[in-house]
Amino acid sequence: MGIRILGTGSFVPERVVENEEFTKFVDTSDEWIVKHSGIKRRRLHDGANFEMAAAAAERALESAGLSPLDLDLILCTTVSSDYATPSLACVVQGKIGAKNALAMDLNAACAGFVFGLDAARLYLRDGMRRVMVISSEKLSQITNYADRSTCVLFGDGAGAVVLEDSDAPFAAAFGTDGAGACTLFARYPENDVPFVETRSVASCDGFAEAKPGTLYMDGQKVYKFAVTAMPKAVREACAKYGIEPDELDWLVPHQANIRIIQTAVSALKFPMEKTICNIADRANTSSACIPIALDEAVRDGRIQRGQKLCVVGFGAGLVYGGAVFEY
Ligand code: ACO
Repeated sequence: MGIRILGTGSFVPERVVENEEFTKFVDTSDEWIVKHSGIKRRRLHDGANFEMAAAAAERALESAGLSPLDLDLILCTTVSSDYATPSLACVVQGKIGAKNALAMDLNAACAGFVFGLDAARLYLRDGMRRVMVISSEKLSQITNYADRSTCVLFGDGAGAVVLEDSDAPFAAAFGTDGAGACTLFARYPENDVPFVETRSVASCDGFAEAKPGTLYMDGQKVYKFAVTAMPKAVREACAKYGIEPDELDWLVPHQANIRIIQTAVSALKFPMEKTICNIADRANTSSACIPIALDEAVRDGRIQRGQKLCVVGFGAGLVYGGAVFEY
């Protein structure tokens, strides 16, 4: 049992930040950023994450021809929620008036949308009628703008899909390597507790003394993980689905670095022309990358009904996931 995407939606903020703007406060250049990542610009939001999530949700509902009241569940994926609690999904549920929907968040970092799709499928199989997955990230609130090796990579945005149950085949493959947790992380600011001596979380084995509340990344280790994990996820998901990767109509990968995408695609002997890429203009918006790219390709007519897609992501955890299904 699989899923049918009834509608897609996305939101990207108005403010466009060109590479050149980073040269005012860190030692970098447009040339370096483009050469090492493929990113030319990103968009940053001056409001709350939930505003972006709600806007993407409303657009997905509109494209599905449904009302917020038709939803049974809202599943948000995020690493950059406005609040530690309540969940982003609860805030969005209230904001869009989806009174009949349960709401909760799922954190699988940049692979969140793929994990979310599979979780949604299980809830649909269990009897829910319509589930919305929203992946929304305000990475600007956890980016360390003094760290040139990470700050140039991230953007803000949100993407959403409305799903219902379907008899069409669906296959997914996931992996987790918790030993790589210290290669990509953001920890909470420390709190003073009057009753116990607060031990620094940074003293955990392997975790660097990074600025609390902001993302730390060992770029080269994550890069090595990504170029192996991406093709592995695609191959495993395709094998479970019963096709070869070259039978896919479209690959929709996580947009972390154009070189990672090119290396993965080349390992799969898959054409770049059938790989959806918007990294140059959108940068890395963590779990929102895939649903934003998906929505843009649906709206501009590249992705058509009946075509086979593979969505594939990787990220902090370290985790990876790929899913094959028909649009
Ligand atoms: N501008 C100029 N120079 C820079 C910059 C910058 N913005 N950033 C790093 N450099 C320098 C480094 O200091 C280094 O200098 P050195 O040789 O004097 O030490 C040099 O450039 C090369 O650095 P590398 O780290 O080797 O550069 P690389 O080609 O590996 O690119 C990058 C770095 C883009 C981070 C790459 O490793 C990468 O994309 N890694 C994976 C990132 C990723 O996929 N993250 C996914 C998850 S993100 C999330 O979860 C939200």
